[in-house]
Amino acid sequence: MEKFILVIFGASGDLAWRKLMPALYTLHQQKLLPETFKMLGVGRKTINDDAFRKKTAEGLNQFVPKEQYSDDEVRKFITNIHFHSMDTSNVNDYAGLKERLKELSESLVCDANYLFYYATPPTMYTVITHHLQAHNLTCQESGWKRVIIEKPYGHDLASAVELTKELSQAFAEDQIYRIDHYLGKETVQNILVTRFSNSIFEPLWNHNYIKYVEITSSEDLGVGSRAGYYDSTGAMRDMVQNHLLQLLAIVAMEPPAKAHGDAIRDEMVKVFHSLRPIKEEEVPQYVVRGQYTESKIHGELVKGYRQEDGIAPNSKTETYMAMVCYIDNWRWSGVPFYIRTGKRLPTRVTEIVIHFKENPHRIFAQKDGLTDAGNQLIIRIQPDEGLVLKVGMKVPGAGFQVDKVGLDFHYSSLTNHYIPQAYERLLCDCIQGDSTLFQRNDAVEATWNFVQPIINALNNPRKFPVYGYPAGTWGPERADQLLAKDGFEWRYPCKNLASNGVYCEL
Ligand code: BG6
Repeated sequence: MEKFILVIFGASGDLAWRKLMPALYTLHQQKLLPETFKMLGVGRKTINDDAFRKKTAEGLNQFVPKEQYSDDEVRKFITNIHFHSMDTSNVNDYAGLKERLKELSESLVCDANYLFYYATPPTMYTVITHHLQAHNLTCQESGWKRVIIEKPYGHDLASAVELTKELSQAFAEDQIYRIDHYLGKETVQNILVTRFSNSIFEPLWNHNYIKYVEITSSEDLGVGSRAGYYDSTGAMRDMVQNHLLQLLAIVAMEPPAKAHGDAIRDEMVKVFHSLRPIKEEEVPQYVVRGQYTESKIHGELVKGYRQEDGIAPNSKTETYMAMVCYIDNWRWSGVPFYIRTGKRLPTRVTEIVIHFKENPHRIFAQKDGLTDAGNQLIIRIQPDEGLVLKVGMKVPGAGFQVDKVGLDFHYSSLTNHYIPQAYERLLCDCIQGDSTLFQRNDAVEATWNFVQPIINALNNPRKFPVYGYPAGTWGPERADQLLAKDGFEWRYPCKNLASNGVYCEL
């Protein structure tokens, strides 16, 4: 692997402290980085290398998984890291940055291979890009230059298009790595393997055998200390436009010809292009939005969204969103995909449920008296990562009653495998120049294009109401009707994957 310098803008922020530095350390610890490399933190703070190293070591102690942590390794690791104080909005300060990078690459005896990570507020993305370019720091004459852009990538379709236009003045598309950390999750990548390495699933993976698909990403926490960001963002922009649509694409895509590069990204973008457009006036029919209200959870009073610090008392920002979408192609004709996400729901869980159709002729009764229902494949992204296939089994004894039992696999049973964190995988891929798990420009624009009418409708609470839901519940009742009108119901996931999906103790 070539030596390189990782430059993190916003290095004293939360993302770098909690996610990026632990990911970089873990890669170093597993010997997935060159023996010598450099990381240069950039920020306004006037601190020297030693102070930055000390602070980083504290963060590593707190956020690196115990099995990967070692005092000795941390001591070695931090000798590679440095800090450069500057005002990133001032173009003149980039001369100093350039000089510092030159010294560091000379000390590494390597080409000027620079990976810039923008862990800053999005308003800085174009500013930093233009200033880097003004100092010739984006050109690839002597060493590669790459840039990782954090989400949110734009605020709507127009701003995403504009951002790409600005970035492309300095970087070619293959230098731009747009991150969606859901694609870095091991369990998300495993969806591809489940689908395309098992001959038993793929023949059934279409409208002939699948009745509907549910994608849930729920969180038990509220908005916490992110009021400023969240109140101008909401669940649609924070989770649906990016993470949930990525999950949908991976579940729905056609088999790619190869397992890397544009083969996968081409198939994902085709799914986005096949999403049936929802017109602005149709939004209330297909989409439900909600906001958590004050309630008692296990006897403790929990604030409503509008009572949270930094949130306007009349805020209409959605903390919950559920919707149904259709993919108008041969494979998925008529199959509804129900998506939901929310804060202050009963538990933190992300999972996908594939509901298979029932047998054409059902001869057995189910244990609770209902007729034998269809199979389900539950793909658990987090926590209790794994898979469950629910199959019918005869209840022992007289007659032919059927109960659903789960054939389950839990990642926790893999004792010899370390499961990398999302940022670890994505940083490692970018350092190696592999963009498979990063979003291409056409995909980002296609997802914004799909959600844009919904974003427009958010401004019209009279036509598109915001329903309250008590903190700690599964969202507004109106969201149940989205499925009920088609004769279905949501699964109620628990933190334990193998639960039977009815309301349970959390
Ligand atoms: C982030 C959102 O992108 O994803 C957060 O901004 C959300 O609001 C988080 O909590 C969820 O990520 P994960 O990996 O915890 O499911």
